[in-house]
Amino acid sequence: MDGAIAVAGGQIVAVGTTDELRAAWLAERQIDAAGKVVCPGFVDPHTHVVYAGDRVHEFEMRIQGATYLEIMAAGGGIAATTAATRAATPAQLVAETRTRLDAMFALGTTTAEVKSGYGLDTETELKILRAIAELDRTHPVDLVPTFMGAHALPPEYAGRTDDYVNLVVGEMLPAVAEWYRSSPFAARGVPLFADVFCERNAFDVAQSRRVLEAAKKLGMRTKAHVDEFTALGGVAMALDLGATSVDHLDVTGEEDVVRLAASSTIGVLIPAVNFNLGSTHFADARGLADAGAAIALTTDINPGSAPCPAMPLVMAIACRYQQLLPSEALNAGTINAAHAIGLADRLGSLEVGKQADILIVNAPDYRHIAYQFGGNLVEQVIKRGRLRIINDQ
Ligand code: NIG
Ligand code: FE
Repeated sequence: MDGAIAVAGGQIVAVGTTDELRAAWLAERQIDAAGKVVCPGFVDPHTHVVYAGDRVHEFEMRIQGATYLEIMAAGGGIAATTAATRAATPAQLVAETRTRLDAMFALGTTTAEVKSGYGLDTETELKILRAIAELDRTHPVDLVPTFMGAHALPPEYAGRTDDYVNLVVGEMLPAVAEWYRSSPFAARGVPLFADVFCERNAFDVAQSRRVLEAAKKLGMRTKAHVDEFTALGGVAMALDLGATSVDHLDVTGEEDVVRLAASSTIGVLIPAVNFNLGSTHFADARGLADAGAAIALTTDINPGSAPCPAMPLVMAIACRYQQLLPSEALNAGTINAAHAIGLADRLGSLEVGKQADILIVNAPDYRHIAYQFGGNLVEQVIKRGRLRIINDQ
């Protein structure tokens, strides 16, 4: 199929046939993508990519039979990464994360949402948000910040969840709102989100609602981790607050599927977590899509449940275990993912007026992006109109 894109000033200024564009535009530089796929850069709408250390020992523990929730209840999991992240200097945190962003970028991710949530105290949560801002400024992948102080209960608040929620609402949220106001994100119209982990041994529905309601009052947009292991009722709560996305949805019941389908909230699915946890149970992507819900896909890159930088691998899993067609998976990793971070007006498709975040994929048609797996078909990454990566095949 013939097609061409004209780019100027970092934006797409025309889309048409090669002949049409040649007649209308004089290019300073041309890239010949004949026989290859040209598609939007991937948008990864749910990541915990800023952290220190790793949890490779927990990987071994799970192989030997421990579950994710058991490890978390025993003081490992998110708490272990929190200890490492608190101890890291800002420079260390940025350097460790930069390596992961490099990997994501080479695999075609051109924009990623990034959550705080491995600080769990005001100072470290702000350290993470500042790291996100610094990486956004110095790395070609565009980042979208999310405050997730309610990610887990820090050890010093053991047994006192409501007290910790008071801290999140009374101290962290106002400090984060103030940080955002003078951040480059606000200046560029990039939203700030707040997120909560609504789960057994994390935050119940009432606590999650308190956090998200307070965030909304401060002008933040909202998201929620819901129904990953336990269906507590987080979907209805998040929809009630007009959340931009509800994420995980592994054990979501029929009623909530219908509710989600009737809303404009995006369901963000995370099959890399199920895969990584050795589970063969996946969110019912087919049922959600058939019911009329808008679904997006994400890596959830983090050191525990998904040490995975690769959107193409996520699409490959979704097609095999969640019965998405390659076209649906690609849609879920581009335009729907852009909706899940509130930036569909500028990202996620190859249309005039959108940011020129474009991939050239070394494959004869787009279905290969999900059909082949384990390698990297992304040959060139163009970010805001600049060719930033040429992967040697
Ligand atoms: O989305 N579920 C909670 N948060 C992350 C996991 C974070 C971690 O294990 O470090 C998730 O799966
Ligand atoms: Fe997550």
